[in-house]
Amino acid sequence: MTTQCVFISGGNRGLGFSCIKALLASPSFSGKIIMGSRKLSSGESARQLLGDERVDVVELDVLSKKSISLAAKTVSMMAPNGLTALINNAGVLGEAEGEDVFETNFSAVIEVSESFLPLMNEGASWIVTSSSAGTRCMASLEVSDSSFLLSPNLTLDGLRERIKVLQRDEKLDNYALSKTAVNCYAQILARTHPDKLVKAVSPGFCLTGMCANYAGKRQPKEAELGATVFVEALFGIGQGKSGVFLKQNSPAGTPIQEAVTVETSWST
Ligand SMILES: NC(=O)c1ccc[n+]([C@@H]2O[C@H](COP(=O)([O-])OP(=O)(O)OC[C@H]3O[C@@H](n4cnc5c(N)ncnc54)[C@H](OP(=O)(O)O)[C@@H]3O)[C@@H](O)[C@H]2O)c1
Repeated sequence: MTTQCVFISGGNRGLGFSCIKALLASPSFSGKIIMGSRKLSSGESARQLLGDERVDVVELDVLSKKSISLAAKTVSMMAPNGLTALINNAGVLGEAEGEDVFETNFSAVIEVSESFLPLMNEGASWIVTSSSAGTRCMASLEVSDSSFLLSPNLTLDGLRERIKVLQRDEKLDNYALSKTAVNCYAQILARTHPDKLVKAVSPGFCLTGMCANYAGKRQPKEAELGATVFVEALFGIGQGKSGVFLKQNSPAGTPIQEAVTVETSWST
């Protein structure tokens, strides 16, 4: 079995933490995980909770270029044989004070990826924790916008410009549009880096800190259930695939052994 080395941003809590737990428990995983954590102390506490020597912690604030560059240097020393997967998981909903949805969920994913891509092996997986809110938002756009964004000729500059225009549309939800944007970035990466396996994954609506203020009727699923999508992306339905959107499709309460992940379209 190949020795794997996975880096995940925002691994100290929520879905990132559950992803790490799921990988450590997977018989398909052998190797180590480097947990990116905005605060080193939070990452250390999370690592202690996991109690597994296969986990290391690196400080990474995805909104700081300096932090990204330092983290990339540290990871290059910790993983001399390169990364087999980069999971861009850190994200915000934008409800708490000071949270910048587009910077965190879109621009920072590009920044982190540009710094970490040179550390990734040929055939390595690039994953972003996206959301079905992003595919639904794409489906709700004017055809002129969605066909532009879904075009195989879309460039990163073109994506940034069109997203900037769409951000001014008050009918569009910021969080959903940030996930549409990062989904488009994933498709660009898949085309421009054919030696990498690029996937956007949706865990579904999960009970994490992000949903702490949710007062609606939808029942969030357990983060452990949502996080099965990462294992599926690496070792299950997503294995060997690139340029795909994968969605954890099971309702709350589904036993982990019965969890189902499906591949869906970028616009649904
Ligand atoms: N929960 C859901 O229903 C759901 C559904 C679809 C997609 N998602 C996506 O899943 C991902 C994880 O969210 P979650 O539900 O696990 O939420 P969460 O419990 O609020 O965790 C968010 C994680 O992102 C980290 N983070 C935020 N800003 C950061 C920054 N500037 N630098 C580094 N880390 C940062 C947080 O670090 P701190 O601890 O330092 O704040 C935390 O580790 C997000 O991308 C989210 O959009 C969630």
